[in-house]
Amino acid sequence: MADKEFDVIVIGGGPGGYVAAIRAAQLDLKVLMVDDRKGKDDKPAPGGTCLNIGCIPSKALLDSSKHFAHVRDDYADHGIQVNDVSIDVGQMLKRKDQVVKQLTGGVTQLLKANKVEFVNGRGKLKADREVELTPHDGDAYAVKGKHVILAAGSVSFSIPNVEIDNEAIVDNIGALEFQEVPERLGVIGAGVIGLEMGSVWSRLGSEVMLFEALDEFLPAVDKDISRVAAREFKKQGLDIRLGTKVSGADVKDGKVTVTFEDSDGEHSETFDKLLVAVGRKAATEGLLDDDAGVKLTDRGQIEVDDHCRTSAENVWAVGDLVRGPMLAHKASEEGIAVVETIAGGHGHFGHDTVPWVIYTDPEIAWVGKTEKQLKDDGVEYRAGNFPFAATGRGLAMGHAPGSVKVIADAETDRVLGVQIVGPNASELIAECVVTMEFAGASEDLARIIHAHPTLSEAVHEAALAVDKRAIHKA
Ligand code: NAI
Repeated sequence: MADKEFDVIVIGGGPGGYVAAIRAAQLDLKVLMVDDRKGKDDKPAPGGTCLNIGCIPSKALLDSSKHFAHVRDDYADHGIQVNDVSIDVGQMLKRKDQVVKQLTGGVTQLLKANKVEFVNGRGKLKADREVELTPHDGDAYAVKGKHVILAAGSVSFSIPNVEIDNEAIVDNIGALEFQEVPERLGVIGAGVIGLEMGSVWSRLGSEVMLFEALDEFLPAVDKDISRVAAREFKKQGLDIRLGTKVSGADVKDGKVTVTFEDSDGEHSETFDKLLVAVGRKAATEGLLDDDAGVKLTDRGQIEVDDHCRTSAENVWAVGDLVRGPMLAHKASEEGIAVVETIAGGHGHFGHDTVPWVIYTDPEIAWVGKTEKQLKDDGVEYRAGNFPFAATGRGLAMGHAPGSVKVIADAETDRVLGVQIVGPNASELIAECVVTMEFAGASEDLARIIHAHPTLSEAVHEAALAVDKRAIHKA
């Protein structure tokens, strides 16, 4: 028998779970959230993969390494002379850990301020929305929820014959903890993690080789966008091997030898570290009792409808556990929508307007459909491009490669997708998401005043270019 009953029990305290818990408390629901993560100081560390071992620490390292690369490579161009630039990896990691600690501590405070009952330990869903809680510091007990939200996130996986030990062969967790810059870093997978973490260590001096199974680089965006990114990454020294199949990795004397096959046959390369970044899978292990009544898909994700309802009554699932992109902001918005549905009957989630960002240099960001998808769907469209190098701000910055591409419906002019490769793409994509969410047209973007001189003028001009009337383009 359950000891206590709650309006909402949230299992998992990442961006899906903790945001849902806070929103539920704001709506006067009685909420319990259980999350098992502890920080390096052994204290509870809610915030999930994103805050602890994902988005935030990787951005901290991306920022540090970007500063380093700018001082080393770009300052002379601005007339700034700096001799003997060096990196203190220990200090860089310490700063990253402090950022993580501040944020996870902040989430703990927010939960408290909102009167969310927080248990640091494991939660397991049983029949009839009973949840077994096993705190790290006490005995297991049962609680019952009128509603249960599953938000347990995802874990990385490897490929056959490549065993992650987080020493020589690492996943995203180990790649944040190298105590010195590896001379040679191998990366399996030229996806989001591979490109971001490959960039960090390459900027600091590693020779980085990425093995990508697909023949095409970054198929999520159109070729004109991915080509610019590929060219810039090559200039930075990232050696991206497309159409490459890794057959195994062996560790000997601390070094890793990777065997792989490409169109020329079988080869091997030896590295100081190997990062495996071939995707993530839903973290369902230990989450569901056999009689919980929650169905999984054949891909091992929790099956949900458009509103995140699972097959069990009043049990919901959000974020990386379910279909759709594995992104923190997607998880948070799903969490909010679920709670608002529970409290008031309606929640909103814009499935078609989830922005993606890869935080490399240049950044890559996109939302909505690509030209390729629209062609496949038989939708008539018009597209406008504008390069950052043709904006005053881009020129003043120095190196500003890349461009903005706005794609609009040929008949209605409604914006169907935007892709950006270039400086600050992560911020510039926001106004494009707003335009799409408001069902705006490229004409709307074109008639909105954009401050001069800013990089956002490239968005403005790309919208003008849809109608072939960009001002600063011949
Ligand atoms: P990913 O799906 O982005 O990339 C994996 C890559 O590995 C793909 O290009 C795939 O073709 C390749 N691959 C798969 N099997 C392979 C094999 N055997 N040999 C060589 N290549 C192979 O997954 P990743 O980078 O592991 O990231 C996982 C998830 O984490 C992403 O889907 C993303 O949602 C999330 N993430 C988001 C970030 C962001 O928003 N900036 C940052 C980091 C992760």
